[in-house]
Amino acid sequence: MSDNDIDPTSPRMAPKAEPTKIKGRELKPSTLMMGHGYDPVLSEGSLKPPIFLTSTFAFPSAADGKRHFEGITGKRPGGADGLVYSRFNAPNQEILEDRLAIWDGAEDALSFSSGMTAICVLMLAYASQGDVIVHSGPLYAASEGFVAKVLAKFGVQYVDFPAGATREEIDAVLEKAKDMASDAGGKVCMVYLESPGNPTNALVDIEAVKAARDEALDWSCPIAIDNTFLGPLWQRPLDHGADIVVYSLTKYVGGHSDLVAGSIAGSKKWMDPVRSLRNTMGGICDPNTAWMLLRSLETVELRMQRAGENATKVCEFLAGHEKVEGLGYLGMIKDARQQDIYERHCLGAGSTFSVFLKGGEAECFRFLDNLKIAKLAVSLGGTETLASHPASMTHLSVAEGRRTELGISDNLVRISIGIEDADDLIADFAQALETV
Ligand SMILES: Cc1ncc(COP(=O)(O)O)c(C=O)c1O
Repeated sequence: MSDNDIDPTSPRMAPKAEPTKIKGRELKPSTLMMGHGYDPVLSEGSLKPPIFLTSTFAFPSAADGKRHFEGITGKRPGGADGLVYSRFNAPNQEILEDRLAIWDGAEDALSFSSGMTAICVLMLAYASQGDVIVHSGPLYAASEGFVAKVLAKFGVQYVDFPAGATREEIDAVLEKAKDMASDAGGKVCMVYLESPGNPTNALVDIEAVKAARDEALDWSCPIAIDNTFLGPLWQRPLDHGADIVVYSLTKYVGGHSDLVAGSIAGSKKWMDPVRSLRNTMGGICDPNTAWMLLRSLETVELRMQRAGENATKVCEFLAGHEKVEGLGYLGMIKDARQQDIYERHCLGAGSTFSVFLKGGEAECFRFLDNLKIAKLAVSLGGTETLASHPASMTHLSVAEGRRTELGISDNLVRISIGIEDADDLIADFAQALETV
């Protein structure tokens, strides 16, 4: 590196980062994923960012060190304006966060060591004793467990509404939450959504939630949404009134089932308290994983498009099969309200869906045990097709009554379609169904 290229007061490792516009034309995320936030000149011309394996960063001067710590400790909002210590920030993670923010049209993003770390740090940053979290249901089981079991230990209560709830139903739940909070001396501190919900694909009306929140609450209460199932390609929740978008990057963004990571994105105002708690607790994504995610982001659009096309073909086959009772696929919604939400919020039907087989657990297990291309594994959003049985796997910890209430039945198989050849996948599902 040449000293002349480095601006020691620069907030970024890459002051000469790629443009986001050319002659007034806003560049698309798929273009920006190749270079945004990184200047090769700063790293010996290396076209791709090196992996920065360091725990700490040398300050150009003591005054810079002081200024950076003012950002870290929150004496100045917006976080550190320089690299300080790898629990707070580091180059690979900063480039990743810049690129993640682009997909959701967010001002800022934060990366984490897992989706669950992102969710837990986010909730802890906003909840205090006596507060109430309002959430949609179903949530990913660990998210639901964190709210109901862990936050409860610190005097944080919750109230939930079913994913497809109408404006009136959401209003009623918010009123109930306000009463609970006022009795406990707290406030409604967050509306937390997951849409589509895991594993049923039930959609939440984000626009109705925003309208209800704006009318019911006159204090700052963010709407956060787990967009793991459709993001970043098929749903942009910030455009529909959400304040914070949450991801398990382990899924579509990572996309190769070879890493675990998470993120949140939104305006700086909403990110700052979370960044501050992440600085204290740790939980930032590691540099190797951040680098892998940068590589994954270059192909995320291609992978998701192909997986989405494959899912449409597979679902067309499954929908007509005699051993299939029904499908929870967003491209074939039966319910008018869900279809309306889909049309207003979603840009594609995704590639993760549920298949309800005729029968129960035994039939599902036979189907799963006989798949030859699709792998029997939890998780989703990878290049390979995965299938699992939520009632006995990912959602086993959810009480049976609650599982029934949420539609997570014993005959539900969750499938995440990958980027293999669609006809090969159909052949695999056909032969596995024959064994049922
Ligand atoms: C919808 C959803 N949110 C969050 C998570 C948690 O993410 P991670 O496994 O990266 O911690 C998952 C994991 O399956 C998920 O499916």
